[in-house]
Amino acid sequence: MSNKNNFVNRVLSGVQPTGGLHLGNYLGAIKNFVPLQEKYESLFCVVDLHAITVWQEPAELISKKCEVAAAFIASGIDPKKSLIFNQSQVPEHSQLAWILNCVARMGWLNRMTQFKDKAGKNKENVSVGLFAYPILMASDIMIYKATHVPVGDDQKQHLELCRDIVLKFNNDFQKEIFPLPEPIILKGAARVMSLRDGLKKMSKSDVSEYSRIMLTDTNDIIAKKIKKAKTDAMPIPNKIKELDGMPEASNLLSIYAACEDQELSIAFKKYQGKNFSDLKSDLTEVLIKTISPIREEMSKLTDDSNYLQEILDSGSQRARIIASEVLKEVYDVTGLSSKV
Ligand code: ADP
Ligand code: TRP
Repeated sequence: MSNKNNFVNRVLSGVQPTGGLHLGNYLGAIKNFVPLQEKYESLFCVVDLHAITVWQEPAELISKKCEVAAAFIASGIDPKKSLIFNQSQVPEHSQLAWILNCVARMGWLNRMTQFKDKAGKNKENVSVGLFAYPILMASDIMIYKATHVPVGDDQKQHLELCRDIVLKFNNDFQKEIFPLPEPIILKGAARVMSLRDGLKKMSKSDVSEYSRIMLTDTNDIIAKKIKKAKTDAMPIPNKIKELDGMPEASNLLSIYAACEDQELSIAFKKYQGKNFSDLKSDLTEVLIKTISPIREEMSKLTDDSNYLQEILDSGSQRARIIASEVLKEVYDVTGLSSKV
């Protein structure tokens, strides 16, 4: 199958091996990868080169990479259908990234809000890599000529930057080498919010462990975290429009709906006018039903490091076949080829 410019339809996404995976990573990204592999050629990448834009203990980085690969498989990504691999094992990502550094403009990167959030007041002292991060992400996508990129809502701006780089590259070298990648951002749980503050994104970096549910949490811990989850001052309203001013109810209902593969309006109907305690006890059940099989499968997989190693090695070998061809095309068109 190919899109209108004769590019093969191809999905690529990446997840960083930093600090364990939470419900936001699962509902916002990984869960959505699974049906895509049935329709498109798919590549899912453990982006360790992105992880080192902030300090990572080397020994821990290795085990975190295994955890992400295990989470992919435990969530339903089938290594026979999709490629699962480590970014650093396909050196073409970094090689293309350098060339893209020379295509992208400083002004474009200066607008990236994630850099501003992550660097905060420490702007002078963060790594250069953290600033250039979105260019490496564009390279991850472009090195496979990926046409579709499933991500959470927070990555929208990075995807727009990637599209700008594609347009400028194709225009600079007067050849349509790269397709314009389309983001796939699902409405439901594209932004899972913190359980301690429904106005803040659920994130690995939040100081409170009670702000997030991890894919490794036991059933007891899940129950405890939902019990403690912040609620709004008023019970769940009778009209769905009134959810607008109720970030906690919106978040808990959205999580419920996403786990149950329902529209928010269906979940809302079930709980309208009810107390938070009704919603919380059902939500706990639904979360346990969603997470416990993944947690158990992840634990089996991380115990079998030989199996994970085989999947990752075979994934990177197959990925390199595509990536090296694209890099060659780029070298040819940019005058970097070995021919003189
Ligand atoms: P994090 O953003 O937690 O540091 P990653 O950068 O590795 O993790 O993100 C992996 C994927 O998970 C991305 O597609 C990102 O958009 C998605 N994601 C992260 N946090 C959330 C969230 N709170 N809600 C929805 N999706 C999220
Ligand atoms: N930047 C993404 C994030 O923080 C992770 C990522 C790296 C990615 N490379 C990618 C996502 C390529 C999609 C495609 O979540």
